[in-house]
Amino acid sequence: MTRAGSLIGLDIGTSGARAVATDLLGHVIAAASEPYPLSVPRPGWSEQDPERWWIASREVLKRVVSELSDPPLAVGLTGQMHGSVFLDDADRVIRPALLWSDQRTDSQCRTITEKVGAARLIEITGNPAITGFQAPKVLWLREHEPASYARVRRILLPKDYVRLRLTGEYATDASDASGTLLLDLHRRGWSDEILAALEIPRSWLPEVCESPDVTGRVTAAAASATGLPAGLAVAAGAGDNAAAAIGNGVVREGLVSSSIGTSGVVFADSATPRIDPKGRLHAFCHAVPGRYHLMGVALSAGGSLRWWRDALGGQDYESLASLAAQAPAGSEGLLFLPYLTGERTPHMDPRATGAFVGLNLRHTQAHLTRAVMEGVVYSLKDCLDLMEELGIPVSEIRATGGGAHSRLWRQMQADIFDRPVHRVDNEEGPAFGAALLAGVAGGVYADVPDACSAVRLHSEAEVPDEERHRVYAAHHAAYVDAYRTMAPLMHRLAGLGWR
Ligand code: XUL
Repeated sequence: MTRAGSLIGLDIGTSGARAVATDLLGHVIAAASEPYPLSVPRPGWSEQDPERWWIASREVLKRVVSELSDPPLAVGLTGQMHGSVFLDDADRVIRPALLWSDQRTDSQCRTITEKVGAARLIEITGNPAITGFQAPKVLWLREHEPASYARVRRILLPKDYVRLRLTGEYATDASDASGTLLLDLHRRGWSDEILAALEIPRSWLPEVCESPDVTGRVTAAAASATGLPAGLAVAAGAGDNAAAAIGNGVVREGLVSSSIGTSGVVFADSATPRIDPKGRLHAFCHAVPGRYHLMGVALSAGGSLRWWRDALGGQDYESLASLAAQAPAGSEGLLFLPYLTGERTPHMDPRATGAFVGLNLRHTQAHLTRAVMEGVVYSLKDCLDLMEELGIPVSEIRATGGGAHSRLWRQMQADIFDRPVHRVDNEEGPAFGAALLAGVAGGVYADVPDACSAVRLHSEAEVPDEERHRVYAAHHAAYVDAYRTMAPLMHRLAGLGWR
């Protein structure tokens, strides 16, 4: 390779911003992270101040750029999906953004389903109305904060707000736009039918591009704030799950990634828009132009372990994993249901709640910790089972996300999924995928699959153990029944005051 240069990916995550820079062979040469807070003004709500995303982005970009010896050729954006940034006529943020994990919009989801029709909504968008998605948040603002709603002139997704600050352009990409409930999945553009039914002006929405497209260039002001060169190309990028899939090389059928971040995601590539008629799996556009993906989402995956860690007094994750390893597979009949912020796949139930079930005097902190980790993997297994029910081929599973750093958690996945679990060498997740997309935008790679040739698999995989699989299979069956049995009780408790 004779060309000198570097590529940058920027991820606007839920707990912080992360930038990574790679060389032109896909090696990570610099990385920086900066946290920001999540606000939970009421149970079930979750919000963030978009200004904090920008402040953190400036910081991580500055740090990464200062370490580069070769000039950046392009930057790609990714971030948490579904969030709503409401802007006024001067692009000022009107109120904190409602995030993907926000569950306040149950009644707006019912309104959308009535107005568009349940079957038609799934037919056009690939998905039913789901509380975390963007469109119900727009209706919520209209109903609950009419003065704010009257000022809205633009609605953006989280990473697209950062794009606006970098380039002055209003743009998004098809994968992230799929999570708004306003996109025609088949045409990969906004649906006039849905916009009309929900009375949302099309002029409020950004242009929909494909992930490797150049959507604008870094302005002089953004250049001095971030250290990026003025005029640098900014790639459309992708929602964090599609970008992570690119970073994991999930760009052909049969490959499936299993991610444990704050949320848990099982992600499969598909050449065509395969839609679950019951809407339990999300059908979205992929970050590969013209391709699609199916995705199951567990809302509190790593989020459950973080909650448990905090409840125990905040020890580090390594100590927690050693504690969990002291208990046997199956935690001696103890189950944890990880529905701490409701659940999406497979239940689509914002009023589902978490639970430990099966406690007895033998159970120690080790059992409870292990049960939390196992419960998260059972919820991912539910997603995988749905994929197989829809006939999605699953030939190889790649573990990713913060949870993939834990050997115990990877082994649990291999044992519970009953398949070898691989992982890529480079565990940079969404930011790495965004850098690969930047590589296509910057002309370094011919297309996205070519960019994915930079993805290398770790030489070792975790392989399933037959005996543990048998134990887990019995516990997973009980886990599936536990939700069925307890759902009415969960709803009753949710009605007793907190929502
Ligand atoms: C996907 C989803 C989450 C967020 C997390 O539908 O809601 O995975 O993208 O960042």
